[in-house]
Amino acid sequence: MTQMFVTLAICATLLFVCPTISNAENIKTPLFVFGDSLYDIGMSFYSDVEGAGAKHWPYGEHYFNIPVGRYSDGLVIPDFIAKFADLDPLQPYLVPRINSYANGINFASSNACVLTETCVEAINLKMQLHYFVQMVQNLTQQVGKSEANRHLSKAVYLFNIGADDYVTLFQTTLKKRPLSFYDKNLYMKQILGNLTVHIKTIYNQGGRKFAFQNVGPIGCMPSVKYTLDFNGTCAQEPQELARMHNAAFSAVAKRLLSELPGFKYSIYDFYVALHQRVLYGNTYGFKESEIACCGSGAFNGDYSCQMEDRTFSLCNSLNDYLWFDARHPTHKANHQFAKEFWSGGPDVVAPYNLHNLFAMP
Ligand SMILES: *[C@@H]1O[C@H](CO)[C@@H](O)[C@H](O)[C@H]1NC(C)=O
Ligand SMILES: *[C@@H]1O[C@H](CO)[C@@H](O)[C@H](O)[C@H]1NC(C)=O
Ligand SMILES: *[C@@H]1O[C@H](CO)[C@@H](O)[C@H](O)[C@H]1NC(C)=O
Repeated sequence: MTQMFVTLAICATLLFVCPTISNAENIKTPLFVFGDSLYDIGMSFYSDVEGAGAKHWPYGEHYFNIPVGRYSDGLVIPDFIAKFADLDPLQPYLVPRINSYANGINFASSNACVLTETCVEAINLKMQLHYFVQMVQNLTQQVGKSEANRHLSKAVYLFNIGADDYVTLFQTTLKKRPLSFYDKNLYMKQILGNLTVHIKTIYNQGGRKFAFQNVGPIGCMPSVKYTLDFNGTCAQEPQELARMHNAAFSAVAKRLLSELPGFKYSIYDFYVALHQRVLYGNTYGFKESEIACCGSGAFNGDYSCQMEDRTFSLCNSLNDYLWFDARHPTHKANHQFAKEFWSGGPDVVAPYNLHNLFAMP
């Protein structure tokens, strides 16, 4: 009994190392990740974008003891998903001298938008796709065309993008222009149109298996409530934009099924998952689901936690908190989301969960 426990414990600590020393290389399903700060594992750390990168204390505090470019106290959702899929930890594309794409790569970067004009100071989705195409060329050089194709068609392409396109309307521009200045339907159509173009780029490079985390309940974000001077649980107007986008995106994904032979997808209903936790935190083990652990101002909704030259408060009992900072969930919450995305039922992730999508040929 004791012996077995020790063996298991050794195995667990070696979990990250095991796949490289086994000969399981051929049966891996790689994971390519695109998105914003919720998925960023260090791209902005390596970029020269001003002010980005979760580069200082207390980011990474609880899990890594040092900041590692993740906008959380610990791991983010794609970290957990790579673990569940038995992959080595992914690396951000900009890490110098990456020489293997066997596990996949993470391109996600903080402040990324679909619309490049909306977020000028970021590695936007368009740039992430540019890097991806560059990577495909390198991969093809390394392993040849047919092996590269096999790799790319087996892979899962995971997205979390769009929230920043909408949040930006409330956080910066709104002070200069009222929301009514924007034709919301046109704005949404441009986002969906560009997103579709990028999905097709990956499809044309051989990608077939796509997974999308939909836009979260942005009206519940401490930062949005702080900026709008809103004193309730979730602000209605941002919530409506997110719901409108998510409904329209589901329709786009369905349409792609008939347009692109072999296209498969899953959508995780992050909007509902996070909204439920904001409303009923206790049910999910969060005593505090509205105020961020780190920050200042109402709901700790000021971004001071990300700025080295600002003072902010930091909570004592991290385990009680849903939000780590004004915009990003804690490690504990990310773990819950990733588990639902991986193995949840059709009420939270459909038409397939990630476990099934990874297993597909
Ligand atoms: C991939 O190719 C580009 C240019 O073709 C090059 O700049 C880059 O360093 C390469 N990356 C790797 C990891 O080889
Ligand atoms: C992409 O977005 C731009 C605005 O940034 C817009 O002019 C263009 O029409 C969009 N493309 C598609 C295919 O919707
Ligand atoms: C917010 O609501 C609480 C509870 O109703 C109240 O005590 C507080 O004064 C309100 N703050 C603002 C800024 O309206």
